[in-house]
Amino acid sequence: MIVLGIESSCDESAAALYDSHRGILSHALHTQIPLHAQYGGVVPELASRDHVRKLLPLVDQAINQAKISPKEIDAIAYTSGPGLIGALMTGAALAKSLAFAWNKPALAIHHMEGHLLAPLLESNKPAYPFIALLVSGGHTQLMRINSLGNYQILGDTLDDAAGEAFDKTAKLLGLPYPGGKALSMLAQTGTARFKLPKPMPQNLDFSFSGLKTAVRLLIEKEQPLTQETKADIAASFEKVITQSLTDKAINAIRLTGLKRLVVSGGVSANKSLRATLDQGAKEYHFEVFYPRLEYCTDNAAMIALVGALRLEQGFQDSDSSINTFARMQLGLHQT
Ligand SMILES: Nc1ncnc2c1ncn2[C@@H]1O[C@H](COP(=O)(O)OP(=O)(O)OP(=O)(O)O)[C@@H](O)[C@H]1O
Ligand SMILES: [Mg+2]
Repeated sequence: MIVLGIESSCDESAAALYDSHRGILSHALHTQIPLHAQYGGVVPELASRDHVRKLLPLVDQAINQAKISPKEIDAIAYTSGPGLIGALMTGAALAKSLAFAWNKPALAIHHMEGHLLAPLLESNKPAYPFIALLVSGGHTQLMRINSLGNYQILGDTLDDAAGEAFDKTAKLLGLPYPGGKALSMLAQTGTARFKLPKPMPQNLDFSFSGLKTAVRLLIEKEQPLTQETKADIAASFEKVITQSLTDKAINAIRLTGLKRLVVSGGVSANKSLRATLDQGAKEYHFEVFYPRLEYCTDNAAMIALVGALRLEQGFQDSDSSINTFARMQLGLHQT
């Protein structure tokens, strides 16, 4: 079964083809980061307009790279939420139009389910059930994944998500948008010599706003900032946040007794986080699974994958109306 995936929820336009037997056949992506960087964040209207320009050529590119004909495509999966509503509508409208023109089913996919299951794109994939640590620009969640579509939230974001905390701290340090990767690179040149508060150690929920305020106060105290102090602040912040994410993931593993942890979303690309999680996995005897770096942040491969899995379950859109959602439940069994 071959599924075309289309992603346009925020500032990446992407198209991919996934074959349930052969895996990913192609993946084409255009990032809008340079477009938004001059404004210090995503400008929704610019994002939508750029998706309109880029999505169809990306679909063509993905089809050409995969060396298949559109006739061989069984379904078109697209991100229907959560995300920027205008941006989502561009992808949904294209997917529905292609589905109509090619007489194929379309499937609305939850963006976070894409992130969550992205490690299943790898050859060494986790078997169900597993714990998932979802760390992206807008979400920080711990979940128990029992099977496809059967998800239980164990811990959730109370304020800033992990990626958002990275981005806001990077901004305070004068780094360009999006700051997560830049902060991490700066941290590698520094020493974690500043003591920062450990974010909410009591339970499996996440709160990083106190940490962000502590960094802001530290930056004010250390003025004028030298490059060395900036690097030390970045290293101190990264150490605290990655340790906190690791501790909570280990607690979830210990509380549930499960032996597999999946880590996904943009922050799962962070080297320091991967190192502390790998260390924890050795110590507490569990396995960790990550997507490859290009599938940590937004991409269409994960959307095509979930499309194929959902199609096998018998799901598809019931009509041709375009429904997109800025906020969207993952169909979770809440605890
Ligand atoms: N190496 C890194 N270290 C830390 N953070 C990173 C790294 N690489 C990317 N990020 C962060 O990941 C986030 C982007 O990830 P992703 O694309 O999954 O989020 P999003 O799509 O904006 O949010 P969501 O998926 O929740 O809607 C940004 O906040 C970015 O700074
Ligand atoms: Mg995302």
